[in-house]
Amino acid sequence: MKSSNLKEIIQGIPKAELHLHIEGSFEPELMFEIANRNNIPLAYDSIESLKKAYKFNNLQEFLDIYYIGAQVLINEQDFFDLTWAYLTKVHSENVVHVEIFFDPQTHTDRGVGFDVVINGIYKALEKGKQELGISYKLIMSYLRHLSEDSAFKTLEASLPFKNWIDGVGLDSSEVGNPPSKFEKVFKASSEQGYKLVAHAGEEGPSSYIWEALDLLKVVRIDHGNRCLDDEALVQRLLDEKIPLTLCPLSNVELKVIQKMEDHPVLKMLEKGILATIHSDDPAYFGGYMSENYYETAKALNLSTEQIMQLAINAFEASWLSDDEKKKHIKTVKNYFNSLVI
Ligand code: ADE
Ligand code: ZN
Repeated sequence: MKSSNLKEIIQGIPKAELHLHIEGSFEPELMFEIANRNNIPLAYDSIESLKKAYKFNNLQEFLDIYYIGAQVLINEQDFFDLTWAYLTKVHSENVVHVEIFFDPQTHTDRGVGFDVVINGIYKALEKGKQELGISYKLIMSYLRHLSEDSAFKTLEASLPFKNWIDGVGLDSSEVGNPPSKFEKVFKASSEQGYKLVAHAGEEGPSSYIWEALDLLKVVRIDHGNRCLDDEALVQRLLDEKIPLTLCPLSNVELKVIQKMEDHPVLKMLEKGILATIHSDDPAYFGGYMSENYYETAKALNLSTEQIMQLAINAFEASWLSDDEKKKHIKTVKNYFNSLVI
């Protein structure tokens, strides 16, 4: 397949994004604009010098910069603008459903109210649904480098907004902060009706994926790259149809893998794992959904069927109703059937 053709095909696929940190979609241009209007100095004197700093050897080096960038977000309008910019961008890539993370503690620890953060995000998501036709779910993610007590406070703060939040997740510095640290707060979150997911097996070992499943009782694993180290774990993922939300460009940029050709998604698909592709923190890792599909498909020489499978898997793995899933999957299949390749 010619690469221009591959790009066009990917652009046209109706896509679902299930692993996106809204703070990670903060483009430098918007960051400078918001920093200016909030009178907050940035450590970089231009967009170019900021972009030059986006070189990471591991997850922590990225997180250090990501948390600094988020510090300019103060007012509801800032969170609205951030979310709206993401939605208009992915709309142009034919993303029709999103399940996005926000990190309340990144903001509440700086004195920004939980209500300020969620009002801005929620209003943009609703506008996206009305005006762009993008359906959505919202996932509140606990920061795992902080204490479980802090996560409990966040859970408490979320309760007045329970109707707007579909699930909770676990992100930030993985190694040394195993899922077991958050067992109680995940149980309490589930009792409040939240669905559960967790980042596991990105940099951490496969034992963290077991813990996320057995102790946190998550329904989806974010990343999960390391599962292939453990045959029994692969079998468990297959038996229970546990989805993995993979983020290939993120994995290359954070040196989880050395090059895209090493990405485990092809092996996962061949084993029948419910593997899906997403963008994680696209403003930092050089691409949104279409680039993630394209770079992966190109490097691993994925077949059209495999690309279609990835798109179908994402709807399958989503929290849409069975009827909505069926409708989207049919649209994906019709799209591929209509292609003359
Ligand atoms: N927060 C934002 N992006 C993340 C990632 N890739 N891993 C863990 N925490 C994150
Ligand atoms: Zn992530």
